[in-house]
Amino acid sequence: MLDVRGLKKVYEGSGRRVEAVRDLTFTVDAGELVCLVGPSGCGKTTLLKCVGGLLTPTAGEVLVGGRRVTGPPPDMAVVFQEYGRSLFPWMRVRENVELPLKQKKSSSARRRELVADALASVGLTDAAGAYPWQLSGGMQQRVAIARALAYEPDVLLMDEPFAAVDAQTRADLEDLVRGLWRQRGITILFVTHDIDEAVYLGERVLILSSSPTVVQEQLKIDLPADRDQLHTRVAPRFAELRTHVYEQIQAAKRGTPVADRLVKDLTDTPPPSKPQ
Ligand SMILES: Nc1ncnc2c1ncn2[C@@H]1O[C@H](COP(=O)(O)OP(=O)(O)OP(=O)(O)O)[C@@H](O)[C@H]1O
Ligand SMILES: [Mg+2]
Repeated sequence: MLDVRGLKKVYEGSGRRVEAVRDLTFTVDAGELVCLVGPSGCGKTTLLKCVGGLLTPTAGEVLVGGRRVTGPPPDMAVVFQEYGRSLFPWMRVRENVELPLKQKKSSSARRRELVADALASVGLTDAAGAYPWQLSGGMQQRVAIARALAYEPDVLLMDEPFAAVDAQTRADLEDLVRGLWRQRGITILFVTHDIDEAVYLGERVLILSSSPTVVQEQLKIDLPADRDQLHTRVAPRFAELRTHVYEQIQAAKRGTPVADRLVKDLTDTPPPSKPQ
């Protein structure tokens, strides 16, 4: 569904040149939930903007459903890192969620239904008439998620969507995303710098090196598809996987690959079965 080939992005201007992404190649299958983890400043947001057609790569290309991305693909939704700036303060919650649907030219009755369903699935039915600035940070982020869901995308890109919410809300939102993914079979590329979150959510974790950025490793997460905050996070396998990701990120910072027993154990493990 997503095919990123030799992606490079160099920002140039004002006498400054930043090579944000050097050479990224990876694919995401239809219906897969892949987490991308990497240190701050390694180019995660840059990568998502290139995938979402908001930035033109310096070299390489991105294909979505086999088609080369030259602008925002029609069946894709993005939840941005800075949710505070992604909602329109002069519009009520329901209008914010409805706005992208107007492009799809669905009937107004259908739009109302999609907005109501999306707000219900993030637990915000009661906030439909409020303005974003009347809501807490976690609620605003749920509005941004509802807006993406109402759009019924085939592909959902999420850029550190829970970085600014409290731990309890974050756990609830993680379960919401996994639940929606399992129900709707959307393809999700989820960016985070939180190793535990990447392992808890993903079916696969792509570990990015620090800048200049390449894919350091791709790791299958062979945890059961049924995950919950209490049991999954204390499972011995969860601890092994998170330790491995942590070591890889440390190695990426030093610029050396990890070649230890765990890597072998992990690469010998068969991939997990897909959820129903
Ligand atoms: N518009 C821009 N113009 C110039 N440089 C930029 C621009 N956007 C990002 N950069 C630079 O590109 C590099 C990667 O930035 P990016 O925001 O993609 O990183 P990130 O991995 O998302 O970081 P974080 O985890 O902090 O969100 C940084 O060095 C940043 O300063
Ligand atoms: Mg970022």
